[in-house]
Amino acid sequence: MPLTPIADLSQHGFLQLYRKDDDAIRAELSRGLLDAHATTSPKFLYDALGSKLFEAICELPEYYPTRTEGAIFAAHMDGIAASAGHGSVLIDLGAGNCAKAARLFPALRPRHYVPVDISVEFLRTAVDGLRRRFPEIRMTGLGMDFSHALDLPSGVPDEGRLFFYPGSSIGNFGPGEARALLADVHTACGSDGGLLIGVDLLKDARLLSAAYDDALGVTASFNLNLLRHLNHLLEADFDVRDWRHRAIFNPDLGRIEMHLEARRHVTVTWQGGRRIFREGERIHTESSYKYTRQAFVQLLEDAGFSDVSCWTDEREWFLVCHARAG
Ligand code: AVJ
Repeated sequence: MPLTPIADLSQHGFLQLYRKDDDAIRAELSRGLLDAHATTSPKFLYDALGSKLFEAICELPEYYPTRTEGAIFAAHMDGIAASAGHGSVLIDLGAGNCAKAARLFPALRPRHYVPVDISVEFLRTAVDGLRRRFPEIRMTGLGMDFSHALDLPSGVPDEGRLFFYPGSSIGNFGPGEARALLADVHTACGSDGGLLIGVDLLKDARLLSAAYDDALGVTASFNLNLLRHLNHLLEADFDVRDWRHRAIFNPDLGRIEMHLEARRHVTVTWQGGRRIFREGERIHTESSYKYTRQAFVQLLEDAGFSDVSCWTDEREWFLVCHARAG
């Protein structure tokens, strides 16, 4: 789809650049499903229901990241605002329900809020609600996938940009991809921009495993819902009942992995492919990398950022950093 002109952007305040009928999306999915070790990108976990299930995950006692990050922001809001400055163009990557950014509005007083998310309809609803709460802040919602390239439309002002990438979403990328994405963000910052980012820290394997395999089974539903989304995107015929959720901590790679495991021998057909999965065979649906503080600051510096300030909680479970582009 061609980029919509700026006039459109200011008129409607929402731009949809991601479409489910895009051949590139289907090709990417098909390739992953046919790989010897079947994989799908974690971004496909977020259809409208997936975004709601992730919201529910954030309420779970086992899922500490959202709560811990929120507590860090609450405890250090003044210091964070002093470092990040106010009156910025706040670009919220993977904004979801926009709740995290909204809690920062009073301290950061952005002049323009630009939430970006692949879950287009979920984001549209969230931005509509937020506009009513904060009529004085200009808002431009962007329904797009920024995982391959961060091509922001020209209507997003390029001065005073503050990128916001909370929740350890950066953990979904392997170290090399994370560095490339952050380097992209660094470029998009221009000389006067910055990045406010939250990342999950390495900790006891039992705490990590529980966070990704909760007692209620919400994370299992979140993972299994991917199959419904694939049925929709690819006209596939996955039967959710044929699969089970697995969460595995990989200590060598410092990551939690989510997989979907075939409960029995199943044949799946979709537009552009077909595969037999043996009982126990898995589709790798997400990796969530955990960092040490040192390794993460190094990653930010490798991506071109400097002047990194960090805040953490008492247990050092989660880290919030502000870094400057220039
Ligand atoms: C939104 C990518 C940060 O990796 O912790 C939650 C997604 N997956 N439970 C994470 C997720 C399973 C989450 N991120």
